[in-house]
Amino acid sequence: MHLLITGSRGQLGQTLHTHFSPAHRVTLWSRPEHDIADPASADALAALAPDVVINAAAWTDVDKAESAPDAAFAANALGPKYLAEGCARCGAALVQISSNEVFAGVPGHFYREYDELGPVTVYARSKAAGERAARQVLDRLYIVRVAWLYGPGSSNFPSKIVAAADKYGSLRVVADEYGNPTYAPDVAAGLEQLIASGRYGIYHLINEGCTSRYEWAAQLLRLRGRGDVPLTPIPASEWPRPAEPPAHAVLVNQAAAALGIRLRPWQEALEEYICNG
Ligand SMILES: NC(=O)c1ccc[n+]([C@@H]2O[C@H](COP(=O)([O-])OP(=O)(O)OC[C@H]3O[C@@H](n4cnc5c(N)ncnc54)[C@H](OP(=O)(O)O)[C@@H]3O)[C@@H](O)[C@H]2O)c1
Repeated sequence: MHLLITGSRGQLGQTLHTHFSPAHRVTLWSRPEHDIADPASADALAALAPDVVINAAAWTDVDKAESAPDAAFAANALGPKYLAEGCARCGAALVQISSNEVFAGVPGHFYREYDELGPVTVYARSKAAGERAARQVLDRLYIVRVAWLYGPGSSNFPSKIVAAADKYGSLRVVADEYGNPTYAPDVAAGLEQLIASGRYGIYHLINEGCTSRYEWAAQLLRLRGRGDVPLTPIPASEWPRPAEPPAHAVLVNQAAAALGIRLRPWQEALEEYICNG
């Protein structure tokens, strides 16, 4: 398989490169040489003619998106549109990586693949627009929503919590925001199975189970042997941000599980992350 990975220097992009390169021909695209928000990316993709494209490129600064909607929509909505156009012209399949934040995140709700979208922030609206834009152009499309992504060697919630514990000695962590902590190498393995299935559609690839930011941080520090760091649970209202994230955008994997594709529980994945780190 000839695989094109966009956003190849990002957290997921790097993990996909590591996962797929031994067994497949992999082409890597990253900025500035390959800006997916440039309409010419459709022509470049059609000329390259890979079998599958995984779009891991995105504007991911959720807070900054509030004051830069044009840039967020260019990367997250127009980018997938141009990639889908290129795929349509050369017969490639596209994996569009999306986000749990496309849902409103109403407390008590658990979101399945075909639930109604309800994006609240600029970032979330741009990701939802990217899903729609790709669907309008391409049938050979997997929309794969992930959540609370972390992986080796990247800046993410776990690495920031450990750094903050070292710096401040104690932490206040939001206890009323819930999600599915999801390990990027597990997503890569799930994507390989999904692509092999040839069953296009919408999927949620998340480690099983859900938790709060507070419990995630507590478990992480315990596993790192730093269970002594005092943690104070706080409501999100005491941690004001430009973009208010959904409180309970918790995903359920129903569609991939029906194909036998299920990621391990988040606690097991976190243990592996700690062991490898
Ligand atoms: N991280 C999470 O918790 C999370 C949660 C849910 C969903 N997701 C989704 O998962 C995917 C991967 O996220 P990630 O954590 O790997 O993000 P990341 O580390 O921020 O990587 C994104 C990459 O995309 C590149 N990029 C941005 N705009 C681009 C453009 N116009 N053209 C080409 N490349 C561009 C960035 O390059 P620069 O370095 O040049 O900016 C960066 O290397 C994204 O679709 C994201 O929306 C992430």
